[in-house]
Amino acid sequence: MKIDTKVIAHRGSKGTRPENTLVSFQAALNDGADGIETDVHFSKDHQLIIMHDETVDRTTNGHGLIYEKNLAEIKHLDAGMRFSEEFKGTQVPTLQEVVQLLIDNQFAGIFNLELKTNKIQYPGIEQAVDEYFSSIHYPFQLIYSSFNARSLEILTNIDPQAYRAKLFKTAAKQAKGLKRSRFIEDFHPDIRWVKRHPYFASAKHLRPWTVNTTEDMQYCFKKNMAAIITDFPARAVQLRAEMRGE
Ligand code: G3P
Ligand code: MG
Repeated sequence: MKIDTKVIAHRGSKGTRPENTLVSFQAALNDGADGIETDVHFSKDHQLIIMHDETVDRTTNGHGLIYEKNLAEIKHLDAGMRFSEEFKGTQVPTLQEVVQLLIDNQFAGIFNLELKTNKIQYPGIEQAVDEYFSSIHYPFQLIYSSFNARSLEILTNIDPQAYRAKLFKTAAKQAKGLKRSRFIEDFHPDIRWVKRHPYFASAKHLRPWTVNTTEDMQYCFKKNMAAIITDFPARAVQLRAEMRGE
């Protein structure tokens, strides 16, 4: 079967490593992932912090909002021990550290950076990420995404060439409107929503999350979607090879 679908590792190899850490991203590369998805926030001193939640409570040994902590405080947190003792001592990475890891690995795949501006807006974060990527050379394809349409509009105004995709759960009308207005190119919806709305968009514009079951992976591969975003990239890469008859 012809399958062009890319496998994007959600927060790195989240299923087998502490999410959104360098060990998780390195594992995803070793697993053969075609892409990496991650989430970015602002610290109090406006550093670009890689974490999923707005607070550090769930994934580290600390408490409180990222936005109320300086980078130095965040660097003292342990982002591995809640996952397992084996990863005790793992730090919370900055965006720059993740990008350096990808450069060191000569990673030529997709880097999907999700701006986590839907709960806290982090004024200036769009400019900060755009300035950073404008100041470096990188070997991967950068795709921005956000649940917050305003962030995608700001990115469009700063850099019309930036590649942007809309993340959504149910606000599909808004997503279609953004595509018509050329604020976005593709859609990153919840896989459960995609299955309920199979004719919403052509497969080549869809990168659903979080595609973890064999059944959901097969569904997306058969439709030849642009990509899947999964916690288990190794399993997805293997299943895709089997379905391709490799
Ligand atoms: O970018 C896809 C996915 O990560 C969106 O949801 O909550 O895991 O960031 P979430
Ligand atoms: Mg995300």
